[in-house]
Amino acid sequence: MSLGPLQLKNPVLCASGTFGTGQEYIDYVNLSRLGAIVSKTVTLEPRLGNPPPRLAESSFGLLNSIGLPGPGVDAFIAEDLPLLRSCGTLAIVSIAGQKTTEFGELARRISAEEGIAAVEVNISCPNIEGGGCFFSDDVDAASGATRAARTHTALPLFVKLSPLVTDIVEIATSVLDAGADGLTIANSFPALSVDWQGRKPRLGNITGGLSGPAIKPITLRLVWLVAEKTRAPIMASGGIMTADDVLEYMVVGATACQIGTANFLDPQVSIKILQDLQNILAREGIDDINSIIGTLKEK
Ligand code: SIN
Repeated sequence: MSLGPLQLKNPVLCASGTFGTGQEYIDYVNLSRLGAIVSKTVTLEPRLGNPPPRLAESSFGLLNSIGLPGPGVDAFIAEDLPLLRSCGTLAIVSIAGQKTTEFGELARRISAEEGIAAVEVNISCPNIEGGGCFFSDDVDAASGATRAARTHTALPLFVKLSPLVTDIVEIATSVLDAGADGLTIANSFPALSVDWQGRKPRLGNITGGLSGPAIKPITLRLVWLVAEKTRAPIMASGGIMTADDVLEYMVVGATACQIGTANFLDPQVSIKILQDLQNILAREGIDDINSIIGTLKEK
């Protein structure tokens, strides 16, 4: 199937930050069956990330405040990329800068390497100061980061949007105009979890990003809004736990789906979803999964 310029063998992908470089899952999952793996976000310099605790469960969801820890792009290329490349499926590398120019530099460094299928520009991490949502909340900052990356790579470029903006269609349109080939909708929702008896936040960084089934109906609406208005290739990300969730997102206009939080409950969930998807399509007599995309009947 075609996701803009990218050819996928199926629409089931693993979301950035929930799947490492794939190697963490190699004993549990036949990675070559997946549509693609999106790497943990890579930054220009090494980052320690946020203080613990970094995860807090909530009803039907999970809050994270990881803070984009990582070894930086040099170590990623030397140590992690060979593993990601050897997974037997497409490698999409997620990048995030603290400044607009860093998106360009990261795109340039990543594109110089072999075996990378696409770049996901993460402009929407809710857990870092300066960077992250600073870019996704503003049309000029979002399009500036996208343009910087676009200028430095010929690889397919997808921009990961924030769900918490006044007008996601406006942001989506601006990054597409700046050269993005498609969109990932969306990152986690800025959120707070509190231990009232201790009068304390449950996360070391106080706030975090909410993901999981709690956000699925909200993200579903965002995908629908953007798909309707832009017709852009979309990877949906938001609370996908089952094959039916994948099909819901495809009906509202997504071409592919990134499995995130569900991986923490069951490391084999992506393969189970893929299998269930094939069974459902066979049961329903649907030969071509592409025929599902954007078929929501609004009246
Ligand atoms: C994090 O590292 O804090 C999460 C990354 C993201 O939400 O973009």
